[in-house]
Amino acid sequence: MLIRGGATQTGNSFAEDVSAGLGRPGQKELPSKYLYDDVGSALFEVITKLPEYGLTRAEERILRRHSDEIAEQLPAQGIVVELGSGRKTRRILEALAQHQFTTYCPIEISSTALESCERELDDLPNVSILGFETEYLDGLNKAVLRRRAGLGVMVLFLGSSIGNFDRSPGEDFLRKIREALQPGDGLLLGTDLEKPLDQLIPAYDDPLGVTAVFNTNLLVRINRELGGDFDLPRFEHVALYNARDRRIEMHLRSIENQSITIGREQFSFQRDETIWTESSHKYRRHEALEMAERTGFKCAAQWVDDEWPFAENLLVAV
Ligand SMILES: C[S@@+](CC[C@H](N)C(=O)[O-])C[C@H]1O[C@@H](n2cnc3c(N)ncnc32)[C@H](O)[C@@H]1O
Repeated sequence: MLIRGGATQTGNSFAEDVSAGLGRPGQKELPSKYLYDDVGSALFEVITKLPEYGLTRAEERILRRHSDEIAEQLPAQGIVVELGSGRKTRRILEALAQHQFTTYCPIEISSTALESCERELDDLPNVSILGFETEYLDGLNKAVLRRRAGLGVMVLFLGSSIGNFDRSPGEDFLRKIREALQPGDGLLLGTDLEKPLDQLIPAYDDPLGVTAVFNTNLLVRINRELGGDFDLPRFEHVALYNARDRRIEMHLRSIENQSITIGREQFSFQRDETIWTESSHKYRRHEALEMAERTGFKCAAQWVDDEWPFAENLLVAV
């Protein structure tokens, strides 16, 4: 069964965030959520299939092997809320729905990603789908209102999407998830682990150039939706590892001095100046356990993939 919870506009608009992010003094920056328009969501799907991007396959392997164990540890979950929709959810939903009828609530800002997730999972027995086209916390707070008496809520935050937050705001985000939950509810949190740079960098700068197109598509989106005049060949994709903060950063670098018009606003770029478009923080195994303790959870189990260092953490609200 498929119901749509409806789309909600929360926070600033795309135009406001672009104006603020390109107009700020110092490092220009845009929120990574804007990478996921229709084209961006389709490109991300391709990225997850690239040989260099081992993260998705690592998490799929863990969920294939351990979903029954997860469902046995938290058997009474009536609602599964996924922050950002994904294709890895089938096994875990199958395992949880063996115990009781389950409402699956994907929370997504991209209607394309939401629709493809709904199509993908619509045939699961004992599962109804209630998708919310909105921001993570807005959707979570709406989904938990449907809690059924005696049953818990399981939140899935997969794909190491927590790594898109800086570390301290990431913990604030986990605290807000905890506030929406009750003791005994679960949070399955994927954290991509530190790994050698010759493995890590190509995952964000693949030789085929798909990640470069995914990143550059943000400029195409600004041109199309906000009337910008970015000339694409005058920007290039950069993926670098910031060792101090232990994160991959994606940027778009201006290859020359230039001025860009978006609607009625103008933005100047010096040669080599960049727009910072996404961070992907990398973790150590024990960090998820410590984050859990600081944010109102305890870690009930952790599984690590042996081919691509990645940890799946089963946290329980205390
Ligand atoms: C990196 S993808 C990960 C998708 C999937 N969970 C996985 O593990 O492969 C992030 C997804 O979350 C969505 N997203 C990003 N920021 C969001 C936000 N603030 N609120 C709701 N959805 C968001 C994007 O549209 C995208 O589909």
